[in-house]
Amino acid sequence: MPDSIQEAVQRYYGTTLTSTADLRTSACCDASAVPAALQPLLARIHPDVLARYYGCGLVAPELLDGARVLDLGSGSGRDVYVLAQLVGAGGEVVGVDMTAEQLAVAESHRGWQAEQFGYANVRFLNGLIEQLELLDLEPASFDVVISNCVVNLSTDKLAVLKGVQRLLKPGGEFYFADVYADRRVSVALRDDPVLYGECLSGALYWNDFLRLARAAGFADPRLVNSRPLAITDAELAAKTGDLRFVSSTYRLFNIADLEDACEDHGQAVTYLGTVPGQPHALGLDAHHRIETGRLLPVGGNTFRMLQQSRYAPHFTFYGDFSRHFGLFPGCGDVTPVATIPAVLPDAAAAPPAVSAVSAVSPVSAVSAVPAASGPCCGA
Ligand SMILES: C[S@@+](CC[C@H](N)C(=O)[O-])C[C@H]1O[C@@H](n2cnc3c(N)ncnc32)[C@H](O)[C@@H]1O
Repeated sequence: MPDSIQEAVQRYYGTTLTSTADLRTSACCDASAVPAALQPLLARIHPDVLARYYGCGLVAPELLDGARVLDLGSGSGRDVYVLAQLVGAGGEVVGVDMTAEQLAVAESHRGWQAEQFGYANVRFLNGLIEQLELLDLEPASFDVVISNCVVNLSTDKLAVLKGVQRLLKPGGEFYFADVYADRRVSVALRDDPVLYGECLSGALYWNDFLRLARAAGFADPRLVNSRPLAITDAELAAKTGDLRFVSSTYRLFNIADLEDACEDHGQAVTYLGTVPGQPHALGLDAHHRIETGRLLPVGGNTFRMLQQSRYAPHFTFYGDFSRHFGLFPGCGDVTPVATIPAVLPDAAAAPPAVSAVSAVSPVSAVSAVPAASGPCCGA
């Protein structure tokens, strides 16, 4: 790239792109449908904010009422303004971004959005997500940190993850959507400003991401969902060749005593069905859909994620850590990457089922939503 990667990214999001329609791939454009429950929230967001949305997933976990939330790479503010409604008047959402043009759009509608909501609970900060410690943000003060298609653009992803870990409360979580590759991306591709700006060539090989997350103190990253990305622009597809990309959402709980694998202590949980909007079952991650009223044996890490987070009041917990029965069956064993089909499924075709395997690879769970280039995408 002619100048620094950060300058090139700033230019891409500041001036090259003027709206979602300018994107050349579906990487930084969420092709998945927004759930019905969130649609009224989106309807209260200013069209100028929506027009410059470049996210790749949905970053709205449950139980946000009253929460303090931080959005890394908040762009024009779409997710901040959705989350502002979910946290309510008693919560706060802070957005951080480095691109002046994107921040200006977000900031210029802050008063208008507050009028729509009936309260003001949002602020935006100009800064780098690799240097969160330089911003006016109290350590251990956020319940949830989110990010939507931004970490792949960072030139120091470990610094980002460490900064997030420092800002999360104990039991808080980093819940974020991002792009991953099925193998390491070559330096030559990383130097391509369009591929980088489109959130592709800065993407981590998914297993390297898991290593970085653990190095930053997140011992047990949990995959929530994953979908393949279509590189429908012929010029870009020719450059990326056999590389396959997915957009995946992970949740990283900030719980000190998580282990690097799920150990069996003979524990179990029962979901009470009390999380708003989830009366029948609660999805913790791609491998844990916890039905209401059913006793579910769980490994020690899952037990701790539920017991030491905001989910605790919604569960009954059985057992403790006094006995150990070995590795939890079907959990904690890293399976090899399943291959993403070279020809992506047709957008109109029915999505193949997500396999309930123990794999921690985002690539093995790509089938939740088929690849698509919706009207919002440039591809
Ligand atoms: C793909 S867009 C996503 C924007 C927003 N999350 C959304 O969903 O519309 C990437 C955003 O991240 C910002 N960004 C990229 N790298 C950054 C960094 N190192 N520090 C702060 N912001 C960054 C860019 O300025 C841009 O607004």
